Amino acid sequence: MFDLQGKKAIITGGAQGLGFSMVEAFHQAGVEVAVIDISDEVLNLSNKLEANDVKVHGIKGNLLDIGNLRQSFNEALEKLGGTVDILINSAGLIERKPALEFSLESWDRILGLNVTSVFELSKLAAIEMKKQESGKIINMGSILSVLGGFNAAAYSTSKGAVLQLTKSLSNEWAEFGIQVNAIAPGYMLTTMNDDLMNDPVRGPQVEARIPAKRWGTPQDVAGVALFLAAPASDYVTGTLIPVDGGVLGR
Ligand SMILES: NC(=O)c1ccc[n+]([C@@H]2O[C@H](COP(=O)([O-])OP(=O)(O)OC[C@H]3O[C@@H](n4cnc5c(N)ncnc54)[C@H](O)[C@@H]3O)[C@@H](O)[C@H]2O)c1
Repeated sequence: MFDLQGKKAIITGGAQGLGFSMVEAFHQAGVEVAVIDISDEVLNLSNKLEANDVKVHGIKGNLLDIGNLRQSFNEALEKLGGTVDILINSAGLIERKPALEFSLESWDRILGLNVTSVFELSKLAAIEMKKQESGKIINMGSILSVLGGFNAAAYSTSKGAVLQLTKSLSNEWAEFGIQVNAIAPGYMLTTMNDDLMNDPVRGPQVEARIPAKRWGTPQDVAGVALFLAAPASDYVTGTLIPVDGGVLGR
């Protein structure tokens, strides 16, 4: 039920953070992974992973440029031998600023990466998955897919859209054997939250709000991603799974 040996995955934003932790976990589970990321670090992934005989491919690409996105997807597919079983859309951006100070350029950038690239990549992957009558698409939502948050209007709008997109695509593609789900990480220990963690006022407030009384780790997310990629979740689709230490249950 949890065997992923020999499967092929494309993971975006896998050079660091939650994406990298999923690359590590899938690599260990025997999945050949192609990682698309804008950072040079993506070209150095095999040196960072525990050696085994499973291949990992790094592709440097900018998912905000649709031409480059399509080119990167095609390169990833080619490296994986023309098939893809799992797509994880983890690349994402946040900018924390009051709405009154938020520029339209930043709004477009956040919506462009967090929503438009997820739609286009999901479509490209589903074209391949439909042919083989199976596939798993895992999107990174957030607790801000549901909550409004503060000083994160563009981000929470984008993550709300990720949840709706997940449901829409699931409705259309479930009959093709493609499951589309989203993960909603809470407050995780990644560089994305450096400013929040280091804020002497908000940092302790955040921790006090988490029923588990600790920030989440990238590994907390990787475990749920493995479940959503495995046959164990073949009847789970169109849903958002919180990995938040209980925050959304409050
Ligand atoms: N960290 C958290 O607490 C948290 C909470 C909820 C949701 N999330 C979501 O999880 C996902 C991963 O978050 P993270 O903390 O690992 O973020 P991160 O900032 O650590 O990593 C994001 C990755 O995306 C890549 N990237 C950025 N712009 C890109 C572009 N234009 N093209 C290609 N790649 C690009 C970066 O190089 C980086 O490797 C995001 O979608 C984020 O919104 C994170």
